Amino acid sequence: MILTANPREQYISHKEEIDAAIQKVLSGGWYILGNEVSSFEQEFAQFTGSAFGVGVASGTDAVFLALKAIGIEQGDEVITVSHTATATVAAVVAAGATPVFVDIDSETYTLYPKLLEKNITARTKAVIPVHIYGQPAELDRILETAKKHSLRVIEDCCQAHGAQFQGKPVGSFGDMGCFSFYPTKNLGGVGDGGMVVTSDAELNAKLKLLRLYGWKERYSSDIFGYNSRLDEIQAAILRVKLKTLNKDNNARRYLAELYSAGLKDTGDLILPLEADYARHVYHLYVVRTSKRDALMDYLKANGVLCGIHYPVPVHEQKAFIELSRGGEKLKNTDLAKDRILSLPLYPELSEKSVEKVISLIKKFYAGKS
Ligand SMILES: Cc1ncc(COP(=O)(O)O)c(C=O)c1O
Repeated sequence: MILTANPREQYISHKEEIDAAIQKVLSGGWYILGNEVSSFEQEFAQFTGSAFGVGVASGTDAVFLALKAIGIEQGDEVITVSHTATATVAAVVAAGATPVFVDIDSETYTLYPKLLEKNITARTKAVIPVHIYGQPAELDRILETAKKHSLRVIEDCCQAHGAQFQGKPVGSFGDMGCFSFYPTKNLGGVGDGGMVVTSDAELNAKLKLLRLYGWKERYSSDIFGYNSRLDEIQAAILRVKLKTLNKDNNARRYLAELYSAGLKDTGDLILPLEADYARHVYHLYVVRTSKRDALMDYLKANGVLCGIHYPVPVHEQKAFIELSRGGEKLKNTDLAKDRILSLPLYPELSEKSVEKVISLIKKFYAGKS
């Protein structure tokens, strides 16, 4: 069976080092917010070109705490996309704000900058571009509009560790960048984890308070805070994997190229592209097809599991219908949902497996299925 993602294979490829790192934490006896977390915060912040990193419990919490750090409250509006993981929007709602959705660009699947301005109201406080599938959003245009209207920018980089916009890593453009270390991510642990990176010392200090009950001194809250900590074992594992993240991203890019070369002539598939401003890190290799469900079933019957990211846009999900300020037609978002298909892709996936997927897809289109 060829899986869409396969974090176990990554563990196997780093087994000795990961086992040793876990053992070191276990025998060291310090399990929460210790040396592993603070070292990883520094190393990962540096990787993203940011001055500071604050390890938190998940990517969802990273976005939530970033919103809290800029003082988001009930009644505020936060602009983002509906074509994203539920988590992005769940964080906005948890922070008390109303999500306002704008449509995506049909080629990059990221926030369409032209639509940003007309959705800004007196209540808008922030915008969250999502670097979906590993492709950066068009940050320069988004930042320009945000600056004009004094909006904060929080980058959702949960699918884009190591992606670059105009040669600089994502996460370093907005006020803060939010990352998830969910196991299948480009940099993934063996449980939940996340980080907010920033180069703003004040935001860094606020985030550190927010993740730990607002404590400046132990057992004494200066502000209202939460419990959202990255643990030492996850940090130790992530430090091992960070060392090969660039190599792993290159492997993803190479396999994506193989897919793109092999699938260019089906006459139906729309293949992912790398925007001219971007270094895409292919968290997912997402094609569009008019025969999505049939193709997916055919691949499954032949031992290939694909995914759909995501089948229901957030604005159509029951829990969010009432909570979001709509109005805007989300044409490209709606078009994508029935057509997108994520093909298997992870750094350890063999060329042979990619070739098998390509040849099955070609057979499917040649009607030999
Ligand atoms: C775009 C996006 N934002 C936020 C998240 C939330 O991350 P987590 O699952 O670590 O809470 C994810 C991951 O699922 C994601 O893909």
